[in-house]
Amino acid sequence: MIKKIDINADWIFHSKWENTLTKSIKKGESVNIPHNMVSVPMHYFDEKSTWIIGGYQYNLKYDKSFENKRVFIKFEGVSSAAKLFVNGKGYEEHKGGYTPFKYDITKALKKGNNLIAVKVDSRERADIPPFGNQIDYLCYGGIYREVSIIVSENISIDNTMIVGSANKEINGKVNIYNAKKEKCNINLKIELSDGKKKIHTTIMPVSLSGEMYEEVEIREIKVQGNITLWDLENPKLYNVEVSLDNGEKIELKTGFRDAYFTAQGFFLNSKNIKLRGLNRHQSYPYVGYAMPKRVQEEDANILKYELGSNVVRSSHYPPSEHFLNRCDEIGLLVLEEVPGWQHIGDKEWQDNALKNIEEMIVRDYHHPSVILWGVRVNESPDNHDFYTNTNALARSMDYTRQTSGTRFITNSKLLEDVYTMNDFNYEGTQAPLREQKVVTGLKEYVPYMITEYNGHMFPTKSIDNEEHLMQHVLRHYTMLNALAGYEHVSGGTGWCAFDYHTHYDFGSGDRFCYHGVCDIFRSPKWAAACYASQMDTKEAIVLEPHTHWTRGNRPIGGILPLIISTNCDYIELYFGDKLFTKAYPDKKRFGALKHPPVYIEMPEGFRDNDAHMYWKYGKVVGYINGKKVAQKLFASNHTFEKLDVKVSDKKLNSIKDGSSWDSTKITVRAVDKFGSTLPYINTYIDIDVRGGGKLIGDKIAVLEAGVYSFWVATTKEKKSINITIKNNRVKDVNIKIDVV
Ligand code: GAL
Repeated sequence: MIKKIDINADWIFHSKWENTLTKSIKKGESVNIPHNMVSVPMHYFDEKSTWIIGGYQYNLKYDKSFENKRVFIKFEGVSSAAKLFVNGKGYEEHKGGYTPFKYDITKALKKGNNLIAVKVDSRERADIPPFGNQIDYLCYGGIYREVSIIVSENISIDNTMIVGSANKEINGKVNIYNAKKEKCNINLKIELSDGKKKIHTTIMPVSLSGEMYEEVEIREIKVQGNITLWDLENPKLYNVEVSLDNGEKIELKTGFRDAYFTAQGFFLNSKNIKLRGLNRHQSYPYVGYAMPKRVQEEDANILKYELGSNVVRSSHYPPSEHFLNRCDEIGLLVLEEVPGWQHIGDKEWQDNALKNIEEMIVRDYHHPSVILWGVRVNESPDNHDFYTNTNALARSMDYTRQTSGTRFITNSKLLEDVYTMNDFNYEGTQAPLREQKVVTGLKEYVPYMITEYNGHMFPTKSIDNEEHLMQHVLRHYTMLNALAGYEHVSGGTGWCAFDYHTHYDFGSGDRFCYHGVCDIFRSPKWAAACYASQMDTKEAIVLEPHTHWTRGNRPIGGILPLIISTNCDYIELYFGDKLFTKAYPDKKRFGALKHPPVYIEMPEGFRDNDAHMYWKYGKVVGYINGKKVAQKLFASNHTFEKLDVKVSDKKLNSIKDGSSWDSTKITVRAVDKFGSTLPYINTYIDIDVRGGGKLIGDKIAVLEAGVYSFWVATTKEKKSINITIKNNRVKDVNIKIDVV
């Protein structure tokens, strides 16, 4: 690549494809990428309405830099099938919504205006994974990840797959595209820097045979300079620049680490780490999959810093590159997997799945955070031929990583390196985990991980009653405790981080699976704190008493039993000004956890004390090393005092030079005087967005469990965004977001 030109702004969208769109620009809706073809309301929409064949048009002006060069168009992700036309010339349709693809469009271009048209099919076509049967999630549709033009020399770098190892070597492959198919010699240079100074240079002479594609192996190249290993606490990244003599260059970041699963658990740089995390779907209300970089990155931040995860499973497809880049930067491990769900299609389908695996590995090879390739369609039946092929493909492309295959059937044949199991055995009473050998049917222990639990076993909405929310908390603790305590498991990823849209015949009927520990807006439910509280106190001090603090909201009334998610040493619970009890984490029940919850039972005779007669305010205080470190106050008399508004980012970027739009989330809570959210309030907010931003959300929105979130999307206008949020019972809230 000599030059990259972003072309995310000013596309024209047509909700109905017509062949004439390949001939000339037609009047349509002006849109910016990422774009979702059919906007989805929150609940109760017909998923069929999202299945369309639409069209996009873009006027690409011939650029001086194209002269005598190769010009490619690259799509980072289009759901689910895309057929490109450049000035009427058609290219092969790309199938699969989660991986990038590019075309050499040099020959189709002319001086002046060039018409790019893309036919996008969002129907659930049986030839494209994950479709062919019912699946428990929606895939929406559209050009929902970025698009760019790449200008290259005639001999160019097609792909770069490079990753570092703990013994300070780099491994991988560089693919060269020799458009002229000429025999010649060229030097390939690999240069590493730590951002400030160069630390390594390798020059490899390559003789090109005259084939269109040539592969150069990068094997065990020892790096000369000092290297800091990539790990969870210090995820050190290095810049890699791969170039050819002719000025071609690709830049990426990687890290140096060893990551492997053994029968004794998971090891990162020879250190045993129990994996603890959640599954993530990349869906959002209103815009489906179409969220830009900042929002994708935010999900990684939430998983690591708010949910205390050290791992995420990108169920059930490759996530956005921005998400993975952020995982690299913050030290969050990733299990990445092939698109699919329970179903294996015919030969054509399987070929497309193999292609998707190839595209996934090419794109994501360099990410130190990616530790496993999931090459088995989630929960599909055994199919030895197909899975022998998927494993062979992954291994031939990447000898540095292991493969896994997630199943829910027991005694399924282990063709992968790691046996990953969705274990939904626990329904509230049974033993939470089955013995590994009972599941695998194997005589010996193998590398093993639980990739899902809970989920549909106990769907939970933020609006549910306290007993239900508490049960949700206990179920997540029970599984976390079992995973922490069982030596023959590398750890687990619970189902799931965020609620997600689904088909009518899954979930709660309103097109939602309420399986998240957070809702679809990423607002935490009570169970989120089970994960958060496992963080080290250096990272965050967590004190979450799970109560709405009311006298009569539960059978019998009162607030007990009270579960408190915390990483404090102990807590004090006050009823009014009186110390009710001092309580410690419940090691008896949850002894394998680093930070068991505090569990305060109903003491004998409690109903006869003060609490029975007069409801009082409450106070929970957390202590570490005898020092008070956190406190939560609960009003006895909850009244709606104000709207509490949290803005995730105060500064956004406008759309510039073809960049994609930028966005941030605003969360509004109805709160009482102590800042507690009022879960049963049934009221609206009126949102007014002005200046350089557009609202993603409902203008008049109803609070659910006391909360509503929306996003704002930037435009080309470099004007600050002014937002007013109103409710007739409390003061308006005005906020300003700068746009630069
Ligand atoms: C699993 C499946 C997930 C999700 C989950 C709900 O079987 O792998 O995608 O549907 O159930 O609990």
